[in-house]
Amino acid sequence: ARAAEALPDSLTAQRHRAAACRRCALWEPATQTVFGEGPADARVMLIGEQPGDREDLSGRPFVGPAGQLLDRVLAEAGIDRTTLYLTNAVKHFRFQRRGKVRVHQRPDREHVQACRSWLAGEIEQVRPDTVVCLGATAASALLGAAFRFSEGRGQWHTLHDGTPALVTVHPSWVLRQGEGAAREAAHALLLADIRKLGGPPAV
Ligand code: URA
Repeated sequence: ARAAEALPDSLTAQRHRAAACRRCALWEPATQTVFGEGPADARVMLIGEQPGDREDLSGRPFVGPAGQLLDRVLAEAGIDRTTLYLTNAVKHFRFQRRGKVRVHQRPDREHVQACRSWLAGEIEQVRPDTVVCLGATAASALLGAAFRFSEGRGQWHTLHDGTPALVTVHPSWVLRQGEGAAREAAHALLLADIRKLGGPPAV
């Protein structure tokens, strides 16, 4: 048993342990932990903020409206979603109830902090060649609280372990632009950034 304990924690073992996580208060109102998903040898890891309503109910990341937009952008960029490892900085849905609706609430720094070791464990196990931070929460979770999203968006950065990290907007932000020209511009911005995955990191 001792030898087994010394083995690195596999993604599956981490997923099981994360299902029982009580490191912050978000577990209680949430339905379940939404752990990352994708091949354990994925070359690219996409990191969002936290599960939304649909993800909370299904237990899978990026299956709701933001995930569907992400799917479209990936298809437009010629990237097969099933080759990617998709996860979030925070693994429980944070929300406020308004009647029957559960309204998304941004996670606080304490929630990101409490979830940090799950994300670090996923990166350690998958060892992606590149990570993509979708939005400011993922960017500051990985690049530090001092990271300035508006200045660093669209560029390559480097994680502590040397992994190149591309920072882009969150698909939910694209959806929040409504319909029309603003939405199209936001979509184009996300697509242009995602297309940078095809080229070498600009160092
Ligand atoms: N938004 C996220 O950041 N992650 C999801 O899994 C879904 C929506």
